[in-house]
Order: sequence, then C-alpha cells, then structure tokens
Amino acid sequence: MDLLEAMQTRRSIRKYRSDPISEEQLKEILSAARMAPSAENAQPWKFIVVTDEELKRRLVSACAGQKFIAEAPIVIVGCGFPDDAYASAGGYMNSYVLDVTIAMDHLILAATAQGIGSCWIAAFREEKVKEILDLPQDVRIVALTPLGYPDEIPKKTTRKDLADLVSYDKFE
Ligand SMILES: Cc1cc2nc3c(=O)[nH]c(=O)nc-3n(C[C@H](O)[C@H](O)[C@H](O)COP(=O)(O)O)c2cc1C
Repeated sequence: MDLLEAMQTRRSIRKYRSDPISEEQLKEILSAARMAPSAENAQPWKFIVVTDEELKRRLVSACAGQKFIAEAPIVIVGCGFPDDAYASAGGYMNSYVLDVTIAMDHLILAATAQGIGSCWIAAFREEKVKEILDLPQDVRIVALTPLGYPDEIPKKTTRKDLADLVSYDKFE
C-alpha cells in the first residue's frame, strides 16, 4: 500500500483481533516514527511499547475505560521531552507536542500500510499513565494508540469539503 492509500484508508479501529504483530512489523512501524522530522532535529520523544496484559488492563482505566485498548496486542504510548524540544515555535509554543504528533502519525500510517489498525487516544489521564508505566516526572504524554489487526470495518467518517479548509492568498 502506498502512502496516499494509507492516508485515505486509515480508520480509527475500536475492535481488535488478538493475533500478534511480528517483531519485524513492529520494527518497521517504529522505524517510520524514528524518521519523522522535528524542530531543530531535536527528536524529543520516546515510544513505550506496552505488551504486558496487566499493564494494558490498567491503561484502560487511565484512558476513560476504553476497553478496546487492551484488546490490541500492543499499545504505544507517545512521550515527549519539553526540555529537549524547540522552546519557541511560532514565538509562543514548545514544539514537543508537534514533534511527537508527527512521529505518531508516521507510526500510524506505517501500521495502516501493513493492514494493522490503530486509534489515536487523547482521552487519558497523564498522571495515571505515568504511574502505571513508572515514567519520570519531566516526561509528557502526548497520545496513545493501540496497534492490532482490525476486527471491524468501521463506518465511513465524513470530512469537511476542501473549499471549507483552504483559502488562497488571504483568509476567507
Ligand atoms: C488527537 C485525537 C484524539 C483522539 N482520541 C480518541 C479517544 O480517546 N478515543 C477514541 O475512541 N477515539 C479518539 N480519536 C479518534 C477520532 O474520534 C477519529 O479520528 C475521528 O472520529 C475520525 O474517525 P477516523 O479516524 O476513523 O477517520 C482521537 C483522534 C485524535 C486525532
């Protein structure tokens, strides 16, 4: 599957088969995240690969009880390091959320290209996830995603028309 097809076919998967993801597949997916750009090439990120059943079960409770997270064989926790990131993107923001998000998107699209499902998870309690995974205090959690083979074909979701998203040369 090429990149455009992965972008067009990726869907949020909320039902997973328990079939394992091979080491090689996981390596390819993580390698795609590694290649992501970041401000000043700071690469202020770390990806925790959670496979332990008990940890996954506890993550469900830290993620608003979203049970499907623990159905997947792997959960990726995307972490950022604000102290290592570019401090002044646009003159007002630390870039770590941008950096980690781009890398997570690389990871998710690489998974899609292999037929592996995912779902961005932002409904989580950072303190709880940090406690469960024993993460250092200076680490910020940006997003999580389960990774696993889909056990559903989700309904089509809609998108705004291009004309509503884009304007040329001026804001309108
Ligand atoms: C930043 C972000 C956070 C999200 N958090 C959740 C979440 O916690 N739980 C969930 O089921 N879906 C979550 N989603 C998935 C969105 O609901 C989904 O992407 C959107 O409805 C479009 O559907 P699609 O991904 O199938 O195209 C999140 C998506 C994004 C981008």
